Amino acid sequence: MTNFIKTSDLATAELEKLLAEADEFKSGSHSSKPLAEKSVALVFFNPSLRTRASMQVGICELGGNPVILEPGGTSWTLEHREGVVMDGDKTEHLKEFVQVLERYVSAIGVRTFAELKDWETERTDPILNAFAKYATKPIINLESAMHHPCQAMADMMTIRERFGTEKKKVLLTWAWHPKPLPMAVPNSFALAAAQFGHDLRIAHPKGYELDDDLLSEIERHASDTGGSVEFTNDVNAAFDGAEVVYAKSWGSKLFYGAAEKDIEYRAKFRADWIVDEANMSRTDDAIFMHCLPVRRNVIVTDGVIDSARSVVIDEAENRLHVQKAIMTKLIK
Ligand code: CP
Repeated sequence: MTNFIKTSDLATAELEKLLAEADEFKSGSHSSKPLAEKSVALVFFNPSLRTRASMQVGICELGGNPVILEPGGTSWTLEHREGVVMDGDKTEHLKEFVQVLERYVSAIGVRTFAELKDWETERTDPILNAFAKYATKPIINLESAMHHPCQAMADMMTIRERFGTEKKKVLLTWAWHPKPLPMAVPNSFALAAAQFGHDLRIAHPKGYELDDDLLSEIERHASDTGGSVEFTNDVNAAFDGAEVVYAKSWGSKLFYGAAEKDIEYRAKFRADWIVDEANMSRTDDAIFMHCLPVRRNVIVTDGVIDSARSVVIDEAENRLHVQKAIMTKLIK
């Protein structure tokens, strides 16, 4: 394991070991300081509460020193493309940025959201991959255009805390949101759910299909692990019998780069595509999951997120434990 870019960088058995180690961190039985005398850079191109706080705390708890950088804010604006004439608004090239930084630190965590401008480019995760290309130290994906693997690992840990290692009927459902959002969270949740052998149902209105190559990868993993994947555009049928409901909104590839068209198209889905008490009543007493931040009474009603079936705060806590396990494995 040299980088942690997406969960499928690792076999399910390796992911299982990470979850076992995360359990040890959570129970307090793992008190080693593998990052003593080491620093880890955390590069945030975008805002964060959970990722930033949990990484910073986790690095300190492992004995290390977090170095937080915000390109364009507390550090120089960055160019990632090769061979460009840098006569615009970018001050430093990622090539120097990474090479300099890794003279100081033992690993680099990167948050770089999709810009929601050009699907064919962004689906290749160009900025994160530029970090991986120039670095000789480990790169940890803290949410890129296509993947949020630390979130997905915390999600898998949270499902196991409630249900043990049994495979479950897991619904990933699109929800209405006033504007298009990136696909990293649904991509990574679906991929990890397939790697852990769950029976996954993906529900969204027509036009909100995830990336074709990623869906093929998800189906391959489901086939290997004895899980399954099915798709529906019927929000009512989607909830039938689900044991886990994972809500997230994302943008349409059909309108990528044209937010106002997506906003106009999605307006008709507002009333039905929300996780409310009526939808949850069709499930098999499902738990409710969301990566947070979440818009209350838009994605999910107060009644659902404040209910005993909501595990959103546990998911957020588990970010700390899984990331400590990931850093312990990755950073030598
Ligand atoms: N879930 C998540 O990544 O939260 P933040 O954006 O606050 O880090």
